[in-house]
Amino acid sequence: MSMPTAAATGAGHPDVDDEVIRCEQLTKRYPGEILAVDRLELSVHRGEIFGLLGPNGAGKTTTVGMLTTLVVPTSGRATVACIDVMAHPALAKQVIGVVPQTNTLDRALSVWENLYYHGRFFGMNAKASRAAADHLLVQFRLTGRAKASVMELSGGMAKRLMVARALMHHPPVLFLDEPTAGLDPQSRIALWDILRQLHTQGQTIFLTTHYMEEADSLCDRLAIMDHGRVLVIDTPKALKESVSADSIVTVSANGDLETLTQVLQKNIDGITGSQRVDNSIQLHV
Ligand SMILES: Nc1ncnc2c1ncn2[C@@H]1O[C@H](COP(=O)(O)OP(=O)(O)O)[C@@H](O)[C@H]1O
Ligand SMILES: [Mg+2]
Repeated sequence: MSMPTAAATGAGHPDVDDEVIRCEQLTKRYPGEILAVDRLELSVHRGEIFGLLGPNGAGKTTTVGMLTTLVVPTSGRATVACIDVMAHPALAKQVIGVVPQTNTLDRALSVWENLYYHGRFFGMNAKASRAAADHLLVQFRLTGRAKASVMELSGGMAKRLMVARALMHHPPVLFLDEPTAGLDPQSRIALWDILRQLHTQGQTIFLTTHYMEEADSLCDRLAIMDHGRVLVIDTPKALKESVSADSIVTVSANGDLETLTQVLQKNIDGITGSQRVDNSIQLHV
């Protein structure tokens, strides 16, 4: 995992490896001693869909915030497309597309204008921005809504438009924070299809989710995060095999947990393993 020193400064360098995101001991402590992200180490490769899976409060949004320059890390370091996000935030913004969890479309603008002005803001000339906006509306099946106000869009359409907007300036990395939270099942599947399509086109994608099935069905690799710490990073397949279980059932009880584990294992079919965690038993079934 060697990295040329030029990368640290954000200066251009030959493509010697395909690492697109790198975090080293990345940490965020909010006022009040809240350790939201604790010495995060991870590496995302070009073309991957990488997922950060964890419950509410795990530190997912804070992580995305630091990687996209919205949150200033307390310590540690992060690079995106070889640009140090703390040292060169303006440069870093050029190489990322961001889809936040909440609707951040400009309500004063039409659907098409939301794309066009984003392109202009990122330095595209009028002709290039117009062409990109037209193209993305087709790709994201929003052409019929080009002139509509964004207030008229359904939740699923608004999210698709936000993804399209994030891609306007052709960023090497696309970040999505909980992209399908709050969407109905159909819109969720439509968005998954779009992300898979982008993946086949080679787009590097970093997403967060608290849905296990979403991480499983979309991601090449994922990191499981809780209380600010990454617990494990692997492919969904390897993670499932490592517990050799389809489900994990947690049993909490007072008393002799050792004996209880033996009794449960003896009397319930389909238990492939068990593990003591604090005052509970985790049964793999
Ligand atoms: N701006 C903030 N100020 C203080 N604490 C925050 C702030 N944002 C998040 N936190 C806290 O940091 C922790 C991680 O939050 P967050 O990154 O939003 O997690 P997730 O996105 O996984 O739900 C939580 O304990 C949350 O309450
Ligand atoms: Mg969040």
